[in-house]
Amino acid sequence: MIHAHLTIDPHFAVGPIDRRLFGSFVEHLGRCVYDGIYEPGHPRADEDGFRQDVIELVRELGVSTIRYPGGNFVSGYRWEDGVGPREERPRRLDLAWHSTETNEVGLDEFSVWLRKVGSDLMYAVNLGTRGVQEALDVLEYANIRSGTALSDQRVANGTPEPHDIRMWCLGNEMDGPWQLGHGTAEDYAQLAGKTARAMRQIDPGLELVVCGSSGAGMPTFGEWERVVLQETYDEVDFISCHAYYEPRDGDLGSFLASAVDMDRFIDSVVATADHVKALRRSDKTISISFDEWNVWYQSRYEDVDKITDIATWPVAPRLLEDSYSVLDGVVVGSLLISLLRHADRVTSASLAQLVNVIAPIMTEPGGPAWRQTTFFPFAVTSALARGRTLELKLDGPAYDTALYGSVPLVDAVATHDPETSSTAVFLVNRSLEEEATVEIDAALLGAVEIGSIQTLHDADIHAANTLADPERVGLQANRTAHRDGGVVTVTLPPVSWTAITLV
Ligand code: AHR
Repeated sequence: MIHAHLTIDPHFAVGPIDRRLFGSFVEHLGRCVYDGIYEPGHPRADEDGFRQDVIELVRELGVSTIRYPGGNFVSGYRWEDGVGPREERPRRLDLAWHSTETNEVGLDEFSVWLRKVGSDLMYAVNLGTRGVQEALDVLEYANIRSGTALSDQRVANGTPEPHDIRMWCLGNEMDGPWQLGHGTAEDYAQLAGKTARAMRQIDPGLELVVCGSSGAGMPTFGEWERVVLQETYDEVDFISCHAYYEPRDGDLGSFLASAVDMDRFIDSVVATADHVKALRRSDKTISISFDEWNVWYQSRYEDVDKITDIATWPVAPRLLEDSYSVLDGVVVGSLLISLLRHADRVTSASLAQLVNVIAPIMTEPGGPAWRQTTFFPFAVTSALARGRTLELKLDGPAYDTALYGSVPLVDAVATHDPETSSTAVFLVNRSLEEEATVEIDAALLGAVEIGSIQTLHDADIHAANTLADPERVGLQANRTAHRDGGVVTVTLPPVSWTAITLV
């Protein structure tokens, strides 16, 4: 039996939790948009063609900000293809995913959908095949009330109110050789800096995200961030991080420790950003937008580049439709712990993606929508993690991993909302075999009772929710918890994620 001990002290905070930590990502990729959020012929489609069952699930998931329209897609995208009368919109080749884009959904429709789900838009501009002018154009179209060519065009297209998009990504993964328009860090830094300066001439209050690395394993990682920030430091607010995890060669121990990699990735980007801050003698601190993160079985994924015959580039094909197990859900829960632990510097994040494509929500055309295992830790963390992240003292045993060395078997983070005096503790037991008993010393919180306890676990760690069995896996009430004075004790099953509230 594993024993771990943690002490909660509400006086020591890491930082306030920005709601934008619970963002997601919708890309024109596979069936994320078409046959995902939008399916006009579906029995539950609303008057705009959006699936109401999906809207309900997105609301339940508790998603704050949604990044759109890509992803690799955006680096070849012409935003103006997606506005105006639908029957006049062009069909285009999507070079990123070897698909055909019909442009039935674009900025105006997506903004309508966002109002229905209650989320904010984080818009990515194309700095792959395009540049400063097109970024200015979409900004004018989206955010200027009226009285200019492009804002009047939006009004004429049926959207009288500006979209007022506050957060803008300056391209996507421009460090990746697969990216349309990929170049050196210096090339990208110049373009991002020019674009940011120009966009700020329209609205100095925009929040701008410059591309960091598409993974900590990229050969240019670290140097890319330094070069890009040295050029753009005064112009941007965020630098992005992207990370996807999957088990390699059956090594589940390392996979369960993926959050260690995420911790190190964040710490390295913070160090690099602060190094540039020092070089520039700047008072400004750059935040991290972890705007793509998830479990993604890339090794199972067939390379779209093999589809070379343009005549066969399909509309909304089934791409990247990972089915997630309990094990994957536990890893997603532990990645959320890592993000929360860095709440002082990671103030925006996007679970990639939202529907069908490496997603917590799956749909069947004409059929049901259901929650994947990864849905549960995200929804519960988004609902319960309020106020600020606390510094936590955690003692417990460790295990050896092939990828990350010695790693704690139990990981945890606590959040505290001074307004409601409620505290939430999120825990993961990474052991493949053993239960873990955790003592939570909550005496410094004063008199508290155990509120809710929910655990994601299954005797079969590979169990998943599927079209045939959409409710196979869910959260379970954990009945092991008890309080003795100021100490709450709870038992965590092997390979499990748990959320406890203390009220
Ligand atoms: O989320 C899937 C893809 O992963 C995105 O399009 C890209 O940005 C990343 O490589």
